[in-house]
Amino acid sequence: MTATMTDTIRVVPQNEPFSARIEGIDRTAPWDAATAEAVQQAFLKHHVLLFPGAIMGPDGVLALARRFGDPMPPVNREKRLENLPEVTRIDSTIRAKVPGQDPQFHIQSSLRAEEWHTDQSFVERPAKATILHAHEVPSSGGATWFCNTAAAYDALSEDMKRRLTGLRAVHGYDTKRARYRPTVRSQEEIDESPDVIHPLVRTHPESGRKALYLNFNRLDRILDIPRAESEAILDELAAFVAQDRFIYRHKWQVGDAVVWDNRCTMHRVSYDSAPGDRRVMLRAVTRGDRPF
Ligand SMILES: [Fe+2]
Repeated sequence: MTATMTDTIRVVPQNEPFSARIEGIDRTAPWDAATAEAVQQAFLKHHVLLFPGAIMGPDGVLALARRFGDPMPPVNREKRLENLPEVTRIDSTIRAKVPGQDPQFHIQSSLRAEEWHTDQSFVERPAKATILHAHEVPSSGGATWFCNTAAAYDALSEDMKRRLTGLRAVHGYDTKRARYRPTVRSQEEIDESPDVIHPLVRTHPESGRKALYLNFNRLDRILDIPRAESEAILDELAAFVAQDRFIYRHKWQVGDAVVWDNRCTMHRVSYDSAPGDRRVMLRAVTRGDRPF
């Protein structure tokens, strides 16, 4: 595929079902209008953008996040950096088993990220973009997988598209459908994050494209149909979206910043590096619109 160029920036589609690599850009310095527009168009077209470069501190991550909207701090206070609450440090290094401790308990908060999800779908105005920046990467494993949920929607049968039309679903901080439990919330955090209802198929507010809006850690049930039917549809969609043709697997290099559009993608971490092989990232998330 051909690269698109402005004066210096190059948008290079990767040899994958989707995603592009952005070259020739300073990630944190102010961008001129042409550069900002080229990145915006690339974001809408490719959904996942890789900005390679050197390691940045939390303010660099926040500066890059601001190009993609208003950064929002995570609900869980303990995930906020002390001086920069919109940035989270994620250490997903697999811990060695500790004698006498249940290994699943030991690593469960990271294991939860193994499930396909879109960020922050349990709030009314969920994430638009997520910026993930690699500080330390394991020597093998630890890839982040992305699923193109707009392409998955397009590929559904006409019957399934009709069946999903108008359906809405309950997203909650936790659901018994999820394999692992999330971080325990304080009362203040519980009050801030009641269950919300989102459409099962959403329309991208900028591109107008339809996409499945799924999160297998947060989706509890589809409204107005029997629970058994809801389970069957969600299970069928979970199998459908996990096909290779919709998936890009990002193998991290130190310094990579990857920005993805949560409105038309899901992601998961492949939790398969060796115990003790360090995997440390910084993350920031920007606030999106209410899905419709
Ligand atoms: Fe995530």
